[in-house]
Amino acid sequence: MKIVDLRSDTLTRPTPAMSRAIAEAEVGDDVFGEDPTVNKLEAMAAERLGKEAALFVASGTMGNLVSLLAHCGRGDEIILGSLSHTFFFEQGGSAAVGGIHPRTIPNQPDGTLPLPEIEAAIRADNVHFPRTRLIVLENTHNLCSGYPLDADYMQAVGDIARRHDLKIHVDGARFFNAAVALGVTPDRLAAEADSISFCLSKGLAAPVGSMVCGSQDFIAGARRARKVLGGGMRQAGVLAAAGIVALTEMVDRLADDHAHARQLAEGLAEMPGVSIDLSQIKSNIVFFELRRADMTVEQFLKMLDEGSARMLPVGVGRIRAVTHYHISAEDIDYTLSVCAKILKA
Ligand SMILES: Cc1ncc(COP(=O)(O)O)c(C=O)c1O
Repeated sequence: MKIVDLRSDTLTRPTPAMSRAIAEAEVGDDVFGEDPTVNKLEAMAAERLGKEAALFVASGTMGNLVSLLAHCGRGDEIILGSLSHTFFFEQGGSAAVGGIHPRTIPNQPDGTLPLPEIEAAIRADNVHFPRTRLIVLENTHNLCSGYPLDADYMQAVGDIARRHDLKIHVDGARFFNAAVALGVTPDRLAAEADSISFCLSKGLAAPVGSMVCGSQDFIAGARRARKVLGGGMRQAGVLAAAGIVALTEMVDRLADDHAHARQLAEGLAEMPGVSIDLSQIKSNIVFFELRRADMTVEQFLKMLDEGSARMLPVGVGRIRAVTHYHISAEDIDYTLSVCAKILKA
């Protein structure tokens, strides 16, 4: 029996077209710059995001880390959201590996950092202070229900960055979800970013890999950082081949995932003891709270699992469900019927 697994969009398996592309990939040594498939993927990614160059990396975490290492030196400060993946879920890698100091600002429910708070966090030139170098944003914002940051907000942050001679990095693990949800082209949404990382291995369904995009100079720095982290892969074209299919065939269909997330959220909102803000649901991530005296989150998720559906506990009383390539409208109906039985809706 199928398990409707909504824990994450990282669970996606390669499509048949990806498997064929992997089997037939033309490869070379990518550390020598000689893997034609990696080179093709990097050129495609740069073009899609309107940047000069791109770099294929092993993961979203590595994409963010090489970006931060390329922008900042030891003792430099970055401004980022208190709920950002980079701050929360990446082992503090930029501090641990790069000596980069994090300055957090509370994320708003829509994933933004308030503009006055960004401006207030920028350090004056003073011997006591670290130097502010970089503003890090996340689009879509994972812990803020996959909310997308729009082009107007990006421009407003860009204005601040220009005034203070700062750079902007976007953790765009689900950047194409943001572009599809907002109905804007990825290059327009990326225009204010000096660097941007996005994942091939989430909603785009490739088995492995992320891309980092930016200027030629920035990518040269990111490439050096990737090497010192042990991320210089050799015949990586076998992985990049799936990434090319991801960019070519898997972007437009993200709209289906967003529709399924809304279907799920609207169904859950009807159920007793479920607290959910429907205005938050803009892409493929659904967060809700279970407020039941008779049932813990763990008990609910266990019963859900016994009914062949899965979601993820994230934080106290919160549950996350993420739609993706392997989840259909029927799967959502099925999941809602299991939830209704458990919650006796
Ligand atoms: C917003 C965000 N950034 C970065 C990452 C890290 O990606 P990876 O798991 O490929 O390291 C994730 C993973 O879930 C994410 O949600």
